[in-house]
Amino acid sequence: MAVSYKELGLVTTKVMFQKSIEGGFAIPAYNFNNMEQLQSIIRGCIESDSPVILQVSSGARKYADPILLRYMALGAVEMVKASGARIPIALHLDHGDTFELCKSCIDSGFSSVMIDGSHLSFEENIELTCKVVEYAHQRDVVVEGELGVLAGIEDDVVAEKSHYTQPAEVEEFVSKTGVDSLAISIGTSHGAYKFKIKEGEQVPSLRFDILEEIEKRLPGFPIVLHGASSVLPLYVDMINQYGGRLEGAVGIPEDQLRRAAKSAVCKINIDSDGRLVATAVVRKMLTENPKEFDPRKYLGPAREELQGMIARKNKDVLGSAGQGKAIVEASE
Ligand code: G3H
Ligand code: 13P
Ligand code: ZN
Repeated sequence: MAVSYKELGLVTTKVMFQKSIEGGFAIPAYNFNNMEQLQSIIRGCIESDSPVILQVSSGARKYADPILLRYMALGAVEMVKASGARIPIALHLDHGDTFELCKSCIDSGFSSVMIDGSHLSFEENIELTCKVVEYAHQRDVVVEGELGVLAGIEDDVVAEKSHYTQPAEVEEFVSKTGVDSLAISIGTSHGAYKFKIKEGEQVPSLRFDILEEIEKRLPGFPIVLHGASSVLPLYVDMINQYGGRLEGAVGIPEDQLRRAAKSAVCKINIDSDGRLVATAVVRKMLTENPKEFDPRKYLGPAREELQGMIARKNKDVLGSAGQGKAIVEASE
């Protein structure tokens, strides 16, 4: 039986995005697949009074189980209530690739879905996105579309080059599809290896010129940045120190993300940073405590570290800290 996100106490991103445009900050979208990640995200966002988008990929949904996931989201809402905090929570499908997957998520309590037709031709992307928007909007669910292809997992076979979003296409795409937000490609990419740079070289700048052109063409329209992990050297180094081998892992510098958050970018997607924190702490704990075999003893410290990272990012990078209660009140 279909369940609406409203019954779970979730909200869409509408008011979040409106406030983020007015206030020059971005809403964090953190990916999760398991209980510890969810606890870290919720606790980190309560700690920093930040609105949050809980983001689930199709792989994560399979991993966690679609039914369990619905109750995890419900549990997150109840956990916030019980804490006395007031932060808005959206549940979002990350990189939906078919109408059927988007429909299934909408019917099981998601308040927001992404239909990623960025690999298709412009016309096919519009056609698929329209179909999802029609189904979603009838149920008050919001839709994120994508134009332009990020380098990395979204690219064909070998991922080397991004195909930046063409500003000339954005107005037609948004008006024909009716999407509520648009993911664009301006130089970010998924994963922990975003740039190939030699020692001493600077990370290249994101294409803020493309972002500005898009902002001019779509004034006040919510823009989304995927592939926005910073790949913090602290955790890459810790992983390598404790037996890992992540060579040449580089992310998006936090000052560039801060600049993006002040613009029309309303949603910033972060997955890899959380994975790196968890892996670094688990590696350290297991190396230092070779006799330990209680998962709580190594997952607990990883969870705590991730909570801290999330609270700090909300404050220093996204600028969403301190906005949670105000957004809940504005939605009432
Ligand atoms: O953009 C992709 C996200 O990082 C999710 O990755 O498909 O491995 O869950 P995943
Ligand atoms: P990162 O790999 O940079 O964390 O990007 C995550 C993302 O875009 C999820 O959709
Ligand atoms: Zn993504």
